[in-house]
Amino acid sequence: MNEPYPEVAVIGAGSIGCFVGGHLGTHARVRLIGRERVRAVIAAHGMRLTDLEGGSVERAPQELDFVTDIAAASAARLVLVTVKSDDTPEVARALAPVLRKDAVVLSLQNGLRNVAVLREALPAQTVLAGMVPFNVLHRGHGRLHRASAGTLMAERHPALEPYVERFAACGLPMILRDDMREVQWAKLLLNLNNGVNALSDLPLREELALRAYRRCLALLQDEALRALKAAGIRPARLTPLPARWLPSLLRAPDAVFGLLAQRMLAIDPLARSSTWDDLAAGRRTEIEHINGEVVRLAEQHGMRAPANAKLVALVHAAEQGDRRIWSREELWGALRAAASAR
Ligand SMILES: NC(=O)c1ccc[n+]([C@@H]2O[C@H](COP(=O)([O-])OP(=O)(O)OC[C@H]3O[C@@H](n4cnc5c(N)ncnc54)[C@H](OP(=O)(O)O)[C@@H]3O)[C@@H](O)[C@H]2O)c1
Repeated sequence: MNEPYPEVAVIGAGSIGCFVGGHLGTHARVRLIGRERVRAVIAAHGMRLTDLEGGSVERAPQELDFVTDIAAASAARLVLVTVKSDDTPEVARALAPVLRKDAVVLSLQNGLRNVAVLREALPAQTVLAGMVPFNVLHRGHGRLHRASAGTLMAERHPALEPYVERFAACGLPMILRDDMREVQWAKLLLNLNNGVNALSDLPLREELALRAYRRCLALLQDEALRALKAAGIRPARLTPLPARWLPSLLRAPDAVFGLLAQRMLAIDPLARSSTWDDLAAGRRTEIEHINGEVVRLAEQHGMRAPANAKLVALVHAAEQGDRRIWSREELWGALRAAASAR
């Protein structure tokens, strides 16, 4: 066999990169590219990939190809980008002199701008948008747990079609769609909870069970939905209810919400948002790529999104060391006051 190695490269092998790459590696020649600290853990422990439904995949260290040099992506036909959004420009620059001209680059990141950043740096390659709907919990020693459900989505393109079967075969079915901008906005509407969750300091399930925190999320979504309407963007339907009905569902009393939102609450009891993970690790968060996008879209259309702006400011304060727990009454009070100030 003289096939080029690797066939698939994962750039930024952290929670999502290792989970997706670890699965895909059971059906493709995958090279994980990331940091030395992650490489050392994988070399010592391999990977154990589990999920909410009880699935478990073990990958021994010798089955995994993990390197730290981006240049090792040079033979890859499919390149999965899984760094945080702030790291995309640097990764795009590093990939430009390295990748094959016929490589397909799939961004599996949250945020709305990663594909444009990658396309600008990689004009010869095919750069496509993807979306990961589930949370992955990092449990240490190479153990990664999918803590919620959902199907991968990606931009429809003939170059991606050969991989769809492979993704499905390794337990990660992927739907190809023509409306990825609407899909990304729909995901962003759900991710508006990330900052609320981080400031609550509670696991997602506990936080979402409390109405005052849900009212915060509903307020953030209201602002986003108004800005989207002004921009003529209709978010895709990723949940049983259309996006425009979610704020009303979120505002329902706890018992009613518990009954109606069972799928939304089907989350591992320990799962938290990635914004919480970032603050806990002392890292910069992706808040500018989530609530910050709502603020900018509103401004572009002569509107304001003051509750989202307030949440961005609170998360930035926490990034800079002002870490405190916001009780549900305090956070709801702060966001409501921001939204009603003239
Ligand atoms: N985690 C989830 O549950 C989840 C779910 C859906 C979507 N997403 C999205 O998926 C993306 C990735 O999230 P994640 O949670 O997987 O992030 P993560 O765990 O932080 O993984 C990203 C990894 O990439 C590394 N990295 C950054 N720049 C690099 C470079 N130039 N070369 C090699 N490695 C580099 C990071 O190292 P450093 O930390 O040292 O920079 C980190 O180890 C984000 O956009 C996120 O919003 C995450």
